[in-house]
Amino acid sequence: MLPYILSLLCLLLHTQGATTTPIHPITRQTCQSTGHCPPGTLIVSRTPNHKNTTHPTLQSAINSLPNDNTPQTILLLAGSYIEQVNITRPGPLTLLGETSNPRDASRNRVRITWAAANSDSTGAVDNVFSSVLVVAPTLEASLTGSGPTGYPVPADTPFGNTDFRVYNVDFENTWAEYSDGPAHALSLSRANGGFYYCGFYSYQDTVYIGKLGNAYFYQSILAGQTDFLYGFGTAWIQSSALQLRGCGGGITAWKGTNTTTPNKYGVYIVDSSVRAANASVATDIQGACALGRPWNSQHRSIFACCYEDGSVDPRGYVDWVVGGVGRFEEGVTLMAEYRDFGPGVNVTGRVEGGVTSVLGLGGWEAYNTPLKVFGDVEWVDWGVVRGTD
Ligand SMILES: *[C@@H]1O[C@H](CO)[C@@H](O)[C@H](O)[C@H]1NC(C)=O
Ligand SMILES: *[C@@H]1O[C@H](CO)[C@@H](O)[C@H](O)[C@H]1NC(C)=O
Ligand SMILES: *[C@@H]1O[C@H](CO)[C@@H](O)[C@H](O)[C@H]1NC(C)=O
Ligand SMILES: *[C@@H]1O[C@H](CO)[C@@H](O)[C@H](O)[C@H]1NC(C)=O
Ligand SMILES: *[C@@H]1O[C@H](CO)[C@@H](O)[C@H](O)[C@H]1NC(C)=O
Repeated sequence: MLPYILSLLCLLLHTQGATTTPIHPITRQTCQSTGHCPPGTLIVSRTPNHKNTTHPTLQSAINSLPNDNTPQTILLLAGSYIEQVNITRPGPLTLLGETSNPRDASRNRVRITWAAANSDSTGAVDNVFSSVLVVAPTLEASLTGSGPTGYPVPADTPFGNTDFRVYNVDFENTWAEYSDGPAHALSLSRANGGFYYCGFYSYQDTVYIGKLGNAYFYQSILAGQTDFLYGFGTAWIQSSALQLRGCGGGITAWKGTNTTTPNKYGVYIVDSSVRAANASVATDIQGACALGRPWNSQHRSIFACCYEDGSVDPRGYVDWVVGGVGRFEEGVTLMAEYRDFGPGVNVTGRVEGGVTSVLGLGGWEAYNTPLKVFGDVEWVDWGVVRGTD
């Protein structure tokens, strides 16, 4: 189970926004556990004619939806789906995974897998093509690009999905069992996405939150080895488990750019755990995994109220040195911790490393709620976060 230490929670509920739920929570859990779903729900199954199946693949169900602002729901029946999924529609979309354990991501029964990595180092092929799931309005909006500012997305590109929600689905990039080039499980740009009790599994660059991407993760599992949380956008990871499948680069590698809206882009990992994926990996990576490294000098990440096991590098974060030049810039780069605990927290190591900021309440206050970092949080399922459903 995910460690969840109540007395140390950083989460502040009283400052959060309104509850909006495209599908009622009771209806949702009934649909997930029995297949009895609201009229209009599309049902995807690998077994044709099973229960009220309407589509054999998730992408065929998505392609059948109108490209408008109507709320839509898709139930995936238990099973492994081998496909790449691409969501461009603007209207609210909820994906439900069939499960009888809707509050436990480690027992998910729906898996979407794809095996691909980007082996190109010339910049001709983009990382997005490796992704299991892509959420973005256009191809250009989803491109990672290269260089300090990444792909120059045209300013007139529309916003993509305003309210995308996924419950109890695992996304796994099965390309290799070690870092072998960027291999996304998720790529989300110019869109709002909430992921509840989901799993994201890969080794390198598992989760990419691109330009103008806003992603909220709750009680989810995010597994990887190298730079496995990266991007330009904004991600809040609440009460989740980061699983270290090895070490490389850092856990986080963020870029800031001036094309990002004035929200507080960055990655915020809150009330979560950072642990070796299993006991055999734990012995190999003792003290070896950095919390992050700056993809450019405007990197911003904070681990707040997190448990860290002994896999974490005593220095915490590290610099990213290219051609003898470090990207860390004092006063610009923010690679921070606030009230973390566990054997991975080494105060003298952090000081000696010289790039980790240990925040006090004042430093954390500017970022301490999803509302402060996203600006708008209507698309987050607060019923789930409050535990009232
Ligand atoms: C199948 O669809 C019918 C008609 O919409 C509905 O009454 C029934 O509950 C559904 N059955 C299952 C197993 O979902
Ligand atoms: C996603 O779909 C859009 C619309 O069909 C397409 O333009 C885009 O290339 C697709 N993205 C990827 C990464 O294949
Ligand atoms: C432990 O995790 C590593 C990294 O994901 C994996 O390669 C290995 O098979 C796992 N070992 C066990 C015993 O599960
Ligand atoms: C963003 O703008 C600031 C101030 O104009 C400038 O110093 C910085 O280099 C810019 N950063 C990027 C990545 O363009
Ligand atoms: C903490 O870090 C210091 C400096 O890197 C190191 O000498 C010490 O062994 C570390 N302590 C533990 C318990 O890992």
